[in-house]
Amino acid sequence: MATILDGVSRTFAEYLLIPRLTRKDQRADLVDLSSPMAAVEPNQLPRFKINTPIVSAAMQSVSGSDLAISLARQGGLAFIFCSQSIESQADMVHQVKAHKAGFVSSDTNTTPDKTLHQVIDLMKKTGHSTVPVTADGTGTGKLIGLITDQDFWEFEDDLSDTVAEYMTPISDVIFGEDGLTLREANRLLHKHKKNCLPILDNEGHLTSLVFKKDYEDHRRHPHELLDDSKRLCVGAAINTHDYRERVPALLAAGADALCFDSSDGFTEFQKEGIHWIRKAFGPEVVVGGGNVVSAEGFDYLVNEGGVDFIKVGMGGGSICITREQKGVGRGQASALLDVVKRRDEYFKETGRYIPICSDGGLSNDTQIVVALAMGADFVMMGRYFAMTEESPTPKTSINGQMYKPYWGEGTNRAQNWQRYGDAAEDNEMVFEEGVDAYVPLVGTVGEVLRTTLYKLRSTMVNVGADSLSEFKEQAVLTLVSEQSVVEAGTSTVFQFSANRDFEGSGNS
Ligand code: IMP
Repeated sequence: MATILDGVSRTFAEYLLIPRLTRKDQRADLVDLSSPMAAVEPNQLPRFKINTPIVSAAMQSVSGSDLAISLARQGGLAFIFCSQSIESQADMVHQVKAHKAGFVSSDTNTTPDKTLHQVIDLMKKTGHSTVPVTADGTGTGKLIGLITDQDFWEFEDDLSDTVAEYMTPISDVIFGEDGLTLREANRLLHKHKKNCLPILDNEGHLTSLVFKKDYEDHRRHPHELLDDSKRLCVGAAINTHDYRERVPALLAAGADALCFDSSDGFTEFQKEGIHWIRKAFGPEVVVGGGNVVSAEGFDYLVNEGGVDFIKVGMGGGSICITREQKGVGRGQASALLDVVKRRDEYFKETGRYIPICSDGGLSNDTQIVVALAMGADFVMMGRYFAMTEESPTPKTSINGQMYKPYWGEGTNRAQNWQRYGDAAEDNEMVFEEGVDAYVPLVGTVGEVLRTTLYKLRSTMVNVGADSLSEFKEQAVLTLVSEQSVVEAGTSTVFQFSANRDFEGSGNS
């Protein structure tokens, strides 16, 4: 007969934190959110840490190079998806590593013969108000001028006039020469009181733009996750099928951390994969394993495999239907608590600390805080990032509201055969483990994380903690009844608009 576990499978929404003493000297902005991402050996410092305990899911509709750049700038890490060719994944990793902070490629360009009307449409479409005017209308064409929304009045000027009549011609444009440093570029912006500095090669072709607002943004975000060569950090997902070819390519491209991407990582395939990586590249490479939902899974991947960190979660993802389709999985809170308990015992026994990532099913900021309080060192999210400007999918307008597509890696669309391994002979998936959906567009990674991180820090102050590690030690949680969930909301008053943070689309 099967074993039936005591207790029920619980979710994060069933728990609340109890406040503890807040000291007078505590300030939310001083709380240290850094977290280890590699196994910490007894009496040693972690060999890889992230500054913000949030990583993005290895999914086609989430983690491309733009998102990876933005997230690393906020101190977190993206895992570039592996449901693509080795070449294109390595290329995405390379793009993040090659990113010169502050120098951006221009994606909103025009030609001098276009009308103001067309430029306004372009500005609305991309959301950018500075438009280089190039000979061929591309972001690398010969620069002819610059037009911004300050150069014309939408409701006064004749919108059938051409760009050439309103732009600042190249003879009057202040520009920098390719090869100058960011510091030099910022000095030019400052000296000439400009908002944007085009960078040109020696033939007058546009190579990039430097913005004053990015300089200010950088000053405001000192937590960027950088490697020893001051390049942004990036993670990459791998699978158990082609790691012999994929891992060398990803490491050569500069990936800082690898992670097996699997709905069920409690397998001999992962153990073999980790052994191969350790043999080929040694103990320094950061490799995560998972997903597991039990202490037994933790023991296997740590003792038999030798992973650096463990990802926990099965069936909780917003686009996930694994539990319905296959009857396997576990409530995310119960899964996490079981694995964390085992991790802590293992730490007492061996002195080795294995970071844990809670993956999937987080539908608001409070659930992130509960996951961290329960012992997760960092969380992985898909939907949260799919809703941002930087996710790799196109924006779509539905009934006047902007949305972005978001689909699971276990859908036909993702065609991620390696991860789910249920491909039939004719390359058709026998059944899907995810759905194809839309999520509302909520803003940039920087904008959404600003609120989330502030909330995390301020909850930590409520618990009297100065750092994430103290928070995990000091947190006291309680189970809540259905009635106290009602009491926590605002069901007894009418609200005409509510700030629902990232609950936008609900959990499907
Ligand atoms: P979310 O943050 O709730 O949207 O969940 C994201 C997580 O769902 C990912 O990190 C994966 O672990 C998981 N996931 C991604 N695609 C699928 C799928 O197609 N089926 C089941 N789970 C998925």
